[in-house]
Amino acid sequence: MNARPALPEWLRTAVFYQIYPQSFLDTNGDGIGDLPGIVSKLDYLHSLGCNALWLNPVFESPFKDAGYDVSNFYKVAPRYGSNADLKRLFAEAHRRDMRVVLDLVAGHTSDQHPWFKASARAGRNRHSDHYIWTDSVWSTFSEPRLLPGHERNGCYLPNFFPCQPALNYGYARIEAGKDWQQPMNAPGPRAVLSELRRIMAFWLDAGCDGFRVDMAASLVKNDPDGKGIRALWKGIRRWLDRDHPEAVLVSEWGNPSMAIAAGFHLDFLLHFGEPAYQHLCAPQVEPKAGAGRGFFDSRGRGDIRVFLDNYLRHWKATQGRGYIALPSGNHDFARFRHRRSEAELRVFLAMLLTMPGVPFIYYGDEIGLEFREGLVSKEGGYSRTGTRTPMQWTAGKNRGFSTAPAAKLYLPTNEQRGQDVAAQEGDPNSLLHTVRALLELRRDFPALGNDGEFEPLHAKPKPYPFVFLRRSDHERIVVAINPCQRGQRLNLPLLKGALPLAARRASVVGQQLRMAGFSFGIFAVSPKQN
Ligand code: GLC
Ligand code: CA
Repeated sequence: MNARPALPEWLRTAVFYQIYPQSFLDTNGDGIGDLPGIVSKLDYLHSLGCNALWLNPVFESPFKDAGYDVSNFYKVAPRYGSNADLKRLFAEAHRRDMRVVLDLVAGHTSDQHPWFKASARAGRNRHSDHYIWTDSVWSTFSEPRLLPGHERNGCYLPNFFPCQPALNYGYARIEAGKDWQQPMNAPGPRAVLSELRRIMAFWLDAGCDGFRVDMAASLVKNDPDGKGIRALWKGIRRWLDRDHPEAVLVSEWGNPSMAIAAGFHLDFLLHFGEPAYQHLCAPQVEPKAGAGRGFFDSRGRGDIRVFLDNYLRHWKATQGRGYIALPSGNHDFARFRHRRSEAELRVFLAMLLTMPGVPFIYYGDEIGLEFREGLVSKEGGYSRTGTRTPMQWTAGKNRGFSTAPAAKLYLPTNEQRGQDVAAQEGDPNSLLHTVRALLELRRDFPALGNDGEFEPLHAKPKPYPFVFLRRSDHERIVVAINPCQRGQRLNLPLLKGALPLAARRASVVGQQLRMAGFSFGIFAVSPKQN
């Protein structure tokens, strides 16, 4: 049963940085970030302590959903550069012992993709079954999610926006009377699956190190127990293990136990799916009813247990088989700094970067980039747009992002002083230096690393703080996190003789932990096992 190959070695120490390419660094003055810009910042990312990158989609696209609407999976979008530039990025990253993971939009294409254009024609052709079509255009009245409007007498199923028709990987169960739903082993779904493998092989051969799979759980339809989708990804995993054993699969699933059993190496705990991550930081732009208050609440009204119970369940189910990824944020949600201060972000990052699993830093979170409210939607961003503004490198023109006139920038920069890399490099107390120091500790102490043991020591709704133990064969490290504005004191016998490794407004006196508001402490304690 557990005859699965060992995890790729590099994951043991992986720390990811997520790049939204259009907003990272523009090198040709067109106002849009590009691949040469990423290459030129590899040394910076390496110096930060990151050794792996995830790029949001960089392929040819009409950009109705920021590139998640791919029109050619084999070609880099000209605005980012060329395929040769992407290969150069792989090579330059590898030279620094860094990895690059591409975004694989497996569930859908753009409606401008040639496959879809062919599929939408009336006459049968080799792409007719690449997408999910009903057998009559009138079906739309019974199922409003199905969309008409093409030469073909049928409605297609979108996967996300209407411009993103769902690829046909088949149905796990066919509903009575709906013969247009095809089983997973029908010729159409099988052809689509082999196209997916061809795309993956193409980029792996070009030098990429794996994929973050977009909406990974969405491929198989009418699959309530997930049997179909698990079988699909397990098949891909088997093929990868044979032909590309180092390739890493990261899922946007939000259910690590399920995703890792299906063959992924990493899955994100996110703000959707299981609600637990919301209960950690709740950075919704448009909070959902009942989303609850996050633990990172300056007034201390959250409850870490809601996050933790769920986290521990997934962690126990996946330990040694894959990793939970905790992201500092991503391109789909409000940044942590949405109506929160830099001091609060610092404490959040201290927790994130001392937890087990693989951390992901969303570009700009290391300098406390703020969420921008009130921007007009860009490329299908809607409420996500304020999370996608340019990275800020200097205090100069366009914050060093681009030489284009400000009006031509992908999105406006932020005028907040100090929120740029240059300013923070020069300030030893900056957030940037804290992130670097935390990642250095994570590297130096295996107990704090991706595989170290984890055990909550103090995790109650009240009083804060949240205190946990990380452990490896020869080390025991206590991490204390106080995200609320009130100071906290806590007696913990274990802390007697503790040695601070990093602390911000927190200390140990005797066996008492003393924490100011918005503080954290990381303490080495005696390695003796109990
Ligand atoms: C994922 C992406 C998101 C995109 C959607 C459709 O959730 O993260 O940005 O809009 O899938 O591809
Ligand atoms: Ca550019």
